[in-house]
Amino acid sequence: MSDERPQARDVHAPYSVTAESGEEREREISRITADIRDTATGARSFSAAQITRARDLLARLYALRRARRLYPGEHPAIAQTEQDLFDVIAAYHAEGVDVSLTFFEDEVLLGEQVLTEDSMLFDQLIRDMVSIGAGSVSFLMGLSPDEIARFSPVIGARIEEVQELDGGIASLAERAECPHILISAVSVVRDDVTVEEGDARELAKATYTGTLELLRELERLIRSNQSLNVSHLKNTARSLVDSILRNRFAMLELSGLKSFDEYTFYHSINVAILSVALGSMLTRDYRFLSTLGVGAILHDIGKMTVDLSVLNKTGPLTSDEWAEMRHHPVRGAEIVALTSGVDRASIVCVLEHHMRYDLGGYPPREPKRRQHIASRIVAVADAYDAMTSQRPYSAPRMQDEAMGIIVKSAGSSLDPGLVRQFVDMLGYFPPRSLVLLNTGETAVVVSPSASDPTRPVIRIIAGVDGTMVRPVDLDLSASAEAQGRSVVRCLDPTGMNVDIAEFL
Ligand SMILES: [Fe+2]
Repeated sequence: MSDERPQARDVHAPYSVTAESGEEREREISRITADIRDTATGARSFSAAQITRARDLLARLYALRRARRLYPGEHPAIAQTEQDLFDVIAAYHAEGVDVSLTFFEDEVLLGEQVLTEDSMLFDQLIRDMVSIGAGSVSFLMGLSPDEIARFSPVIGARIEEVQELDGGIASLAERAECPHILISAVSVVRDDVTVEEGDARELAKATYTGTLELLRELERLIRSNQSLNVSHLKNTARSLVDSILRNRFAMLELSGLKSFDEYTFYHSINVAILSVALGSMLTRDYRFLSTLGVGAILHDIGKMTVDLSVLNKTGPLTSDEWAEMRHHPVRGAEIVALTSGVDRASIVCVLEHHMRYDLGGYPPREPKRRQHIASRIVAVADAYDAMTSQRPYSAPRMQDEAMGIIVKSAGSSLDPGLVRQFVDMLGYFPPRSLVLLNTGETAVVVSPSASDPTRPVIRIIAGVDGTMVRPVDLDLSASAEAQGRSVVRCLDPTGMNVDIAEFL
């Protein structure tokens, strides 16, 4: 332990690059959430006739829910109500629009349009849909009668049945395999579902190990030219989303794990955790987060076809080797595109993760177009994890240094709105960082503070003279508790013989 008294470093300066007015922040967040919504449901403007037709749509949806509750699954009345519902949805699709319904509190909306009279007429349906967690239902173009039939038990689901499921109604819908129907709860973003701390940590560890096993299997399959197992992949992404929605923090704690020997595997998991966690700051749409999770797990899969001598080379790459490395997003997207059942957005995410927010990066795109929202999320997570990991050709950066670079990249290589959310999520000194305080004490970061990303909750582990002390927790954002303390910078725990896990 060092006993040198530190020189204060102005960590606030780089952060202020993105910490502008609240209004601008609101604008950025609404831009990003609009992108997510468009990804999930497409355009949402409806004509007067289409709005009038919504009454018929709601009546048929209600009839199907009732039929599912009253009759056994094979009863002809159910097949008829399924067909009736399909017919009215098909009328919208024939006019070139997707159908998206939102049930929220006492209202029903078609797209963004509140249906005032229908909200009174269908109050029972609204209550039912909200109570089973189906606050948002979208029927996308390309829907078939078969999909409606597979989806029918989801519409008729009982509350108790849904409550018993991890992931709720959305996981029931995912299992029904209906690519043209999206369903999710409408809930307040950031409203974390919490479970017992111990359970959450166990679940997070099991999810981490499961994802690691998946990646090892993927490499084996790719190197032996075999096709990928899409259900294993999707189930892994779902458990990642479940774990993060239950307790984002328990999963984020594990995102700091590294392995030099299995860099690509650990990097892929960490990027997936950081991406889904960042996505969950913006939406709790289960389908979007699962698609994002699949894209993030697979983002570097193209590297599994690159020669190991190139991948692990410590010296500078030749131009041919560099070209091979830069080809990995295209190669990865080709591999994933050949795997049937993977959502298009996941494939796009693999292709675009090295593109930049300012339209640069690779592979080049002509005409210039913006990266998909999922690709922009993965780009932030990828940049942070790569910088903080030891790679064959570079030493890892300290967490605060990497965060400073991320902040400075806002608006150039990275989406500024996502960078803000990323800093809010992890803080400027992320959890598990070993930090030096202005008093000369050493501490481990326990969690970010909600009010100031530069003032986390810390656990002091060593005094001014470097000797270990009985750990004391302090919230540096609370001035009475902090008593003038602030974080100066991150320290390298390996050089100081400190095992962070011992203190958390
Ligand atoms: Fe990559």
